[in-house]
Amino acid sequence: MDAKALETEALDAISAASTPEQLEEVRVRYLGRKSELKLALREVRDRESGMALNQVRETLESAVERREAELRGAVLERFLRERVVDVTLPGERIPRGHYHLITQIRREVEDVFLGMGYQVVDGREVETAHYLFDALNMPPGHPTRSPLHSFFLNGDVVLRTETSPSQIHTMEAQPPPVYMVSLGRCYRRDTPDATHFPIFHQVEGLAVDRGITLADLKGTLQHLLRQLFGEEREARFTTHFFPFTEPSLETFVSCFVCDGRGCGVCKHSGWIEIGGSGMVDPNVLRFVGYDPEEVSGFAFGWGLERIAMFRHGVPDIRMLWENDLRFLRQF
Ligand code: DAH
Repeated sequence: MDAKALETEALDAISAASTPEQLEEVRVRYLGRKSELKLALREVRDRESGMALNQVRETLESAVERREAELRGAVLERFLRERVVDVTLPGERIPRGHYHLITQIRREVEDVFLGMGYQVVDGREVETAHYLFDALNMPPGHPTRSPLHSFFLNGDVVLRTETSPSQIHTMEAQPPPVYMVSLGRCYRRDTPDATHFPIFHQVEGLAVDRGITLADLKGTLQHLLRQLFGEEREARFTTHFFPFTEPSLETFVSCFVCDGRGCGVCKHSGWIEIGGSGMVDPNVLRFVGYDPEEVSGFAFGWGLERIAMFRHGVPDIRMLWENDLRFLRQF
């Protein structure tokens, strides 16, 4: 075996190795247990050639070690160069969601009333017939007392069909004056269609104080309408009936599509019905221990889905519950 030739060949191969993997192959080839060099070393009989071969082995081993250090340095270098972080670049944009349209309107309405000094109170979604019907002056045969119209859980316990019982809870908890709104979910056994859904939201409002009149009711609701639909909107009130108000009114807003001239949205009347209201029935005040000779009040209940649909031209209430982001992102 020509030790010198082997050494030259091996040194060339070592410096030609350009990755740690290639270098390992070269090392196995020239220094592995079955390499020509190792086999020759095992056969050595004389001191002279033993020393010569060991010399070659040492040279190759240290060459491998050096090359290994070089390659490792190069790998690190390349890694650092390629993975360089420019800390001045803008970060990755994290997509940010926003409130559901109904929640947005809920917050808007709350803000309008907070601005007038009202308190926002939580109601109860699960009520008793006592608070939902009796305290609101509903006679025993009233249709919403029927399980065909309302979700009874058991006996007298029922999912509220309107937010009005929050009036009773609030008045029971404090003496007059009361200025409150209460917003939340209501439940009715309605078959879903374009304008009905068994779950929906209402805003309930109540003001009870000395000398509250119908003018306060109209002024307050007019203000709410203009905040929600724009300053140029007119309000109109017509008589109606609710068991818990006397007199009772329905509120209409001048159609914001045709500005009152008449179109498909307002069914060619120029007006859109937005909710019920009235002067609190003396029976309701007496029920909570208020004196109707001392104080009077107004109340109202409007649907938040109605507000959303009219204001944004949402053609079908079910779209508000499908949670299709392509729809929701628009608001
Ligand atoms: N609770 C009524 C409904 O769901 C709306 C309503 C009408 C609420 C008159 C009131 C009111 O507070 O005074 O249709």
